[in-house]
Amino acid sequence: MAHATAAVNNRLPRHIVIIMDGNGRWAKNRRLPRIAGHKAGVNALREIVKFSAKKGIEALTVYAFSSENWNRPGSEVSRLMKLFMKALQQEVDELNRNNIRLRFIGDHTAFSEKLQTSIREAEEITCHNSGLQFVIAANYGGRWDITNAFRVLTGKIKAGEISPSEINETLIQSYISLADLPEPDLFIRTGGEMRISNYLLWQLAYTELYFTDQLWPDFTPEDLEMTLVWFMGRERRFGRTSEQIKREKRA
Ligand code: IPE
Ligand code: IPE
Ligand code: MG
Repeated sequence: MAHATAAVNNRLPRHIVIIMDGNGRWAKNRRLPRIAGHKAGVNALREIVKFSAKKGIEALTVYAFSSENWNRPGSEVSRLMKLFMKALQQEVDELNRNNIRLRFIGDHTAFSEKLQTSIREAEEITCHNSGLQFVIAANYGGRWDITNAFRVLTGKIKAGEISPSEINETLIQSYISLADLPEPDLFIRTGGEMRISNYLLWQLAYTELYFTDQLWPDFTPEDLEMTLVWFMGRERRFGRTSEQIKREKRA
């Protein structure tokens, strides 16, 4: 009997989301301070962004700082903040030249005024670009995101703008970060941990999950290319059966 083949999706992801983990271990392996790993991480990210734009990926969302990362030693947090500031200032012109639109998600009120201003400026400078949408999650948490949507929605109910009977998934979704982008198709986590770490909890409902032991500073465009091949070989069923998918592909 012929081996049943899966109806693979054979398409590039429209939206890739990444947990860039392993910077600290990368530095430790080289007897360097952790911040050296974060700097190497910025270099790795630059190449991944360029490659994604070249490939015609519509959106790339990366986790730069989680709402839980404040629990790190104060010295690492403040070095990370300095690095964000520097990277933003150094990279924004090049991103702009490459028609990349830079956006941020997360609660930025906890950042310094200076950093908040740099974030706003980077968004404004690149807001008309039509290429890759490059989203940085900074002081982001999936639970914060859902909680925030609740806060806005209940405010609207209280103001009489929405009635509780109107609440459905589409409405909730519209108040959650990245609502205007295609849903994430591909999730990548480097660094070997098999967890979500409070990343895009709502948005990941049907995302293909890819975990690799590689440390983030070692992750190259060639590695991403291989992950894209893996992704194209997945059969995305969204609750249906494989036979249904094959029938649709033939139609
Ligand atoms: C991820 O690398 C970067 C941030 C969380 C900012 P880590 O710093 O978590 O690296 P490991 O997990 O300690 O190796
Ligand atoms: C997740 O990495 C956050 C970022 C990459 C920014 P962590 O290294 O902080 O995750 P946990 O705490 O080990 O799960
Ligand atoms: Mg980590």
